[in-house]
Amino acid sequence: MNPTLAIEPSVFYFGTPVALLTTLTPGDDTANITPISSAWALDDTYVLGLSNLGRAMCNLRENADLVINLPDSRLWESIEKIAATTGVADVPPGKREKYRYEPDKWALGGFTPQPSAVVLPPRIAECPVQMEARVTNMTPLNEEGDATIVHAKVLRTHVHRALAVPGTSHIDVDAWTPIYYTFRHYFSQGERVGVNFRAEQ
Ligand SMILES: Cc1cc2nc3c(=O)[nH]c(=O)nc-3n(C[C@H](O)[C@H](O)[C@H](O)COP(=O)(O)O)c2cc1C
Repeated sequence: MNPTLAIEPSVFYFGTPVALLTTLTPGDDTANITPISSAWALDDTYVLGLSNLGRAMCNLRENADLVINLPDSRLWESIEKIAATTGVADVPPGKREKYRYEPDKWALGGFTPQPSAVVLPPRIAECPVQMEARVTNMTPLNEEGDATIVHAKVLRTHVHRALAVPGTSHIDVDAWTPIYYTFRHYFSQGERVGVNFRAEQ
């Protein structure tokens, strides 16, 4: 048996893919972009963990439409360019030391808006996977009111052609390189070590 050590990590970011949410800011022409990594899917529903201090959460309370854009590992520097910003004009006191207000994260990160088909916020053209979605449920994460668990149903999925297996709705797993956020470091995907018995290719 491997010897173990009891530790008290301040965060539990053992590694989840990064997503860039686009949401509509009321009264604004452009949508806001929010990098997150607390995101996973079950069936057609995504579960997102969002801070209540951020623009994304404010926006989703006003308009339930969003796009869950999945960047690949080549986009890490663009993500990092917008990382220390918020779309909240009056930056909350707890964030002021490390974050500043940025009304146009598209220009700052070098991202290009692409119209969505069934929701209002645009997709991010540079992201190889773009899922148009709508919020179906919101639950407080804890009694302190720090964050919200958001359920979003995926309504339409777009992928760059290079990722699609021709004639199917399958993703070419050799072409797709998600970007993982592991203790605030960006990682690309390593080599394949195995295949599940239900894999379709
Ligand atoms: C890679 C990455 C992952 C992040 N994951 C989350 C997350 O899962 N949930 C969250 O609320 N904030 C997360 N953040 C922090 C937000 O992006 C940050 O608070 C930002 O200011 C939110 O932007 P907004 O206020 O314009 O929505 C993450 C940041 C980065 C760079």
